[in-house]
Amino acid sequence: MTSKLIAPSILAADFANLQRDIEMVNNSDADWFHIDIMDGVFVPNISYGMPVLKAITKHAKKTIDVHLMIVDPDRYIKTFAELGSNILTVHYEACTHLHRTLQAIKDAGMKAGVALNPHTNINVLEDTIADIDLVCLMSVNPGFGGQSFIENTYHKVTQLKTLINLKNTTTLIEIDGGVTNKNAEQLVSAGADVLVAGSYVFKNDNQIETIKELRKIANN
Ligand code: DX5
Ligand code: ZN
Repeated sequence: MTSKLIAPSILAADFANLQRDIEMVNNSDADWFHIDIMDGVFVPNISYGMPVLKAITKHAKKTIDVHLMIVDPDRYIKTFAELGSNILTVHYEACTHLHRTLQAIKDAGMKAGVALNPHTNINVLEDTIADIDLVCLMSVNPGFGGQSFIENTYHKVTQLKTLINLKNTTTLIEIDGGVTNKNAEQLVSAGADVLVAGSYVFKNDNQIETIKELRKIANN
């Protein structure tokens, strides 16, 4: 079986010590960098944009997983490819022509991800799942780090896993929001492949150890 992956969310890092926090992730058991881009329109918060991503990719030595919480993401697909994104995830709720957007992401040389808000049913992906490399299930309402995990997510992971098996695709299931050592095991047993963790990692005194433990739980 392939390893379950841990993706620390840089949103919870110390932006005044960003290089230090990036090096910490480089030197840890983490697999990916999770980068949250918010536009203040799709979500009620603004995070950081292109110059900060450029600074991150300069130092980051692991897969760059970019989560776009923006309206009309098609405008910036090429830009995010040029900035070094390996995976580009758009929100289902922000895409009128999702199939076209997914093709454009792949044409730009990246893996294509789709994120679903907590209220969005899995069945909206029935006709696109074969074109999706990663589904990001939001386990909080997007916009902020440090929120509590929504329990209904377990049920959604199971439903999504069933769809993936039915369509026989290799789509990864990523969980984003409120992930801790308390829910990691149950998420992975339901079918999750990638766990994003922001506050749980960065607000901890021993971040390297926290990542190591979380990865161990996910792969037990
Ligand atoms: C929320 C973001 C998440 C967030 C996770 O809108 O998409 O990636 O950074 O942070 P925690 O792990 O603190 O919930
Ligand atoms: Zn995210």
